[in-house]
Amino acid sequence: MKKIYVLLLAAVMCSCVSAQTSIKLPAPAKDADMTLFKALQQRASVREFKTDEVPMQALSDLLWAAVGINREDGRLTAPTAMNTQEIRLFVCLGNGTYEYVAKDNVLNLASSKDLRQDVAAGQGNIGDAPVFLLIVADLDRYQRKGPRTATFGAIDCGYVSQNICLACEALGLSTVPRAMMDQETLKKELSLGEGQELLINHPVGYRK
Ligand SMILES: Cc1cc2nc3c(=O)[nH]c(=O)nc-3n(C[C@H](O)[C@H](O)[C@H](O)COP(=O)(O)O)c2cc1C
Repeated sequence: MKKIYVLLLAAVMCSCVSAQTSIKLPAPAKDADMTLFKALQQRASVREFKTDEVPMQALSDLLWAAVGINREDGRLTAPTAMNTQEIRLFVCLGNGTYEYVAKDNVLNLASSKDLRQDVAAGQGNIGDAPVFLLIVADLDRYQRKGPRTATFGAIDCGYVSQNICLACEALGLSTVPRAMMDQETLKKELSLGEGQELLINHPVGYRK
């Protein structure tokens, strides 16, 4: 009997660990009532957020809109130079920081730390936002680097950032693209090297 309890406990502990290391997202709805032109009309930077959680369904929809797969050949909602797909998206939540893996629709644990205040970097009340997205251009994914590689990375980051801005409007969420953040801490915690440019972050939540 004791052995069964031990085995059951081990099984429960294993499932807890895997739940933390990888979060399966609900399938993205890929739909919203708001038209693109209404979203364009409403898009505006918001810097005051309620602390209310963002539902996982809305997060899944937002991540798919940002840089999800929209074609059978694996191409993305955002264009990338030579289809390099070098943009990596990290999701900072209260229980850790995750990387969005579009092909599996999962969040993989990148750091078990809550890095949201490191992203907020003391700017006003932005740290109230329940979610922060980090956009990284992984320039090491380019087969050959040239004088314009970093520019391509920055341009591709911009498409993803704008997708996030518009999708937030469509989903009733708010955001602001931000260059301000504690680069040093974030790069260290997420094991980002010289080839990975941490370019922009987006607090995401409900407008206060
Ligand atoms: C590349 C870039 C960096 C930005 N960095 C910050 C920032 O660190 N903090 C901030 O509050 N807003 C930041 N913003 C938002 C701009 O201040 C904002 O877009 C601008 O004031 C225009 O306002 P709007 O977005 O409401 O049209 C940034 C925007 C861009 C495009």
